[in-house]
Amino acid sequence: MIQFQGVSKIFNSKNKEIRAVENVTLNVGRGEIYGVIGFSGAGKSTLLRLVNLLERPTGGKVIVNDQDVTSISARDLRKLRRRIGMIFQTFNLFNSRTVYGNVAYPLKLARVPRAQIRERVTELLRFVGLEDKAEQYPEQLSGGQKQRVGIARALATSPDILICDEATSALDPETTGEILKLLKKVNEEYNITILLITHEMHVIRSICDRVAVMENGAVIEEGTVFDIFAHPKQQATKNFISSVQNDKLSPKLLDILKQHHSGRLYRIIFKGGTTGEPVLSQAAKKYDIDFNVVYGSINELQGQLFGSLIVEFTGSDAEIANVVRELERTVELWEVVDHES
Ligand SMILES: Nc1ncnc2c1ncn2[C@@H]1O[C@H](COP(=O)(O)OP(=O)(O)O)[C@@H](O)[C@H]1O
Ligand SMILES: [Mg+2]
Repeated sequence: MIQFQGVSKIFNSKNKEIRAVENVTLNVGRGEIYGVIGFSGAGKSTLLRLVNLLERPTGGKVIVNDQDVTSISARDLRKLRRRIGMIFQTFNLFNSRTVYGNVAYPLKLARVPRAQIRERVTELLRFVGLEDKAEQYPEQLSGGQKQRVGIARALATSPDILICDEATSALDPETTGEILKLLKKVNEEYNITILLITHEMHVIRSICDRVAVMENGAVIEEGTVFDIFAHPKQQATKNFISSVQNDKLSPKLLDILKQHHSGRLYRIIFKGGTTGEPVLSQAAKKYDIDFNVVYGSINELQGQLFGSLIVEFTGSDAEIANVVRELERTVELWEVVDHES
């Protein structure tokens, strides 16, 4: 549905090259909710803006619906943009237009007859739960309601793709949850492919099917949300994941753990059928070490069990290395040497 093929975007500002996006290759499948996560400045917004050519790539290809967006005519580009809705962190509504006027706007631009506009806007306002707010102005609405208007407006021209730039980052946690639920409904009921970017791992965990992690313009890791949670490889990914575990290690907590535990601390991720204790006790029998579960949690993720434990190993370095090697065959683990930011 959306393919990035070795895509780069370099900005030249004041004789300085800024490599905002570097050699990104990604495939977003039809009907997916695909998330891109990264810190501020990672290149996420630039990547999104390449999809509807708000930015033109300086290298590689962006293919949307089998069309190479960089080589289509201005007329086809206008058509393509109607197939791609977009929502923003700051909502970007017209303050001088009513809710109705905001949602009707893209249809007016597309010269849709007035009666059809009325029908479509009414349907969309019902879909986003704002049918009673049609005549209000944006400043009379809460943040969550504004984003509902943003979503209705983005859906006005019946797109197949919705791109979301930090759509919930300006909202409180409860409203964020409601908007994410609405996006899930957009995906399921209208069968719209969603590409979203965020700096918050809980957004990825709650609605995405797949995720890419971006750092300094590049995608450093990519996969299903479950696999990324179960087998994170890059440090940045591990940090994003710990940020949503209830057992995140703060500097203070790590200090306390180290005071009470003289062995070496490891985080162990287990999933599906593998539960923590049997795997650990088998390994402990085989090698000359002791283990002690210090801290942990079990959650459900995409319909599967997902757990995370902090375990203390005591024994010689060589024996601990043996146990770690053994455990690596069935679970993901890494030594906790620092707090998890
Ligand atoms: N129009 C622009 N001109 C120059 N530099 C830009 C422009 N847009 C973005 N950048 C730079 O590109 C990098 C990536 O920015 P952005 O895509 O906005 O990241 P993110 O959305 O992940 O925070 C940043 O260093 C940013 O300053
Ligand atoms: Mg951004």
